[in-house]
Amino acid sequence: MHTSFRSGLEGVVVAETILSEVNGEEGRLVIRGHLVEDIAGNCSFESVIGNLWAGFVPEDLSEASIRQALAEARVWAWDRMLPLLNSTRRLEPVEALRMMLSALADSDSARPHVLVTGAIAVFVAGISRFQNGKSPIHPNPAHGQAEDLLYMIHGERPSPERIRALDTYLVTVSDHALNASTFAARVIASTRAGIISSVVGGLCALKGPLHGGAPGPVLEMFDSIGTFENAEPWLTAALDRGDRLMGFGHRIYRVRDPRADVLKLATSRLRAESNRIPFAEHVEKVAIQLLAKRNPGRKLDTNVEFYTALLLEALGFHRSLFTPLFACGRVAGWTAHAMEQAGTNRLMRPASTYVGPVPQAQQSMAAEYAST
Ligand code: ACO
Repeated sequence: MHTSFRSGLEGVVVAETILSEVNGEEGRLVIRGHLVEDIAGNCSFESVIGNLWAGFVPEDLSEASIRQALAEARVWAWDRMLPLLNSTRRLEPVEALRMMLSALADSDSARPHVLVTGAIAVFVAGISRFQNGKSPIHPNPAHGQAEDLLYMIHGERPSPERIRALDTYLVTVSDHALNASTFAARVIASTRAGIISSVVGGLCALKGPLHGGAPGPVLEMFDSIGTFENAEPWLTAALDRGDRLMGFGHRIYRVRDPRADVLKLATSRLRAESNRIPFAEHVEKVAIQLLAKRNPGRKLDTNVEFYTALLLEALGFHRSLFTPLFACGRVAGWTAHAMEQAGTNRLMRPASTYVGPVPQAQQSMAAEYAST
């Protein structure tokens, strides 16, 4: 039985999941039984990964075991990465990451979910340093994932505040129900193509500006607005042109994205390292007012990408790394969803409504050809 066509699959339910729930009316995100605001900043990324993978794999998923397993995966990925770096020269970091992830094989490890989750951090850091003319830094297996990412990218021991801020970010974006990239990962998993392919597919979907590619453009918007006084005329002109304001709006949320506040708090803890917060708050206020005026029937509010941009900038990351860093967090969700989907053993194969030309009867076709 086919249901009617829904543009953008809006409102269509295609899976049951125990992993996360987005309640768009109440602005609530639950990640495997926990509100995002309760775990972000309070639980490590490793413990959240363990929670997401629980029940899908037989191994010990304690925080300490995951920490150790990811450290080993990072060290393994180092050797795999080095010969690939040269080929990333002309690529954007997110494209370079896509290439490197594609070089992994499910057969590289009995636990490809661990392998890819550890490797992605090494790849992002290595690409960043290589493309800036610096030598990549070997992972330190004594570090947790967030600390090692900061260390491998910046080349210095990060402060506990910075480690906590990045850990908060990775937890905040770890999973978010059937967003476009997770849906892509699940479709791929349903064909039994394997975890690595699911993650590569997830990244391909993530990189678009309507999904995980927005935070870089958020900073470009700040740069272009420039001054407090210019916020209203700049945003008005952008909306007059029909542009979408980056960092606002969401398919599911009808109220503020709860992750925006989690990341705003994490950014404000680093206030000394970012001078953009008061300016961003002003831009946010004006943008929400203008969007409300233009779309009275559709509440458009701040989404996760707005404060992602501020937090990642305050942590000293170049904007071209924002989407790859998003992937470093979301890989937890992609791998968990891929394993959950593979467990259902049911190929995803939706239907489409054909609106193309109707085939002509064979005789009239033959007559048509004969007459030409
Ligand atoms: N700026 C201006 N207008 C907007 C915005 C925006 N950011 N978002 C939605 N609108 C408008 C749309 O143009 C639409 O009007 P239209 O149909 O006449 O074009 C109307 O509001 C309703 O749009 P929705 O149905 O709510 O939008 P949709 O669900 O298709 O898109 C999306 C959601 C892609 C996130 C959109 O809000 C957007 O483009 N935002 C900017 C990009 C962005 O911030 N992306 C990151 C999202 S968070 C994440 O994926 C991690």
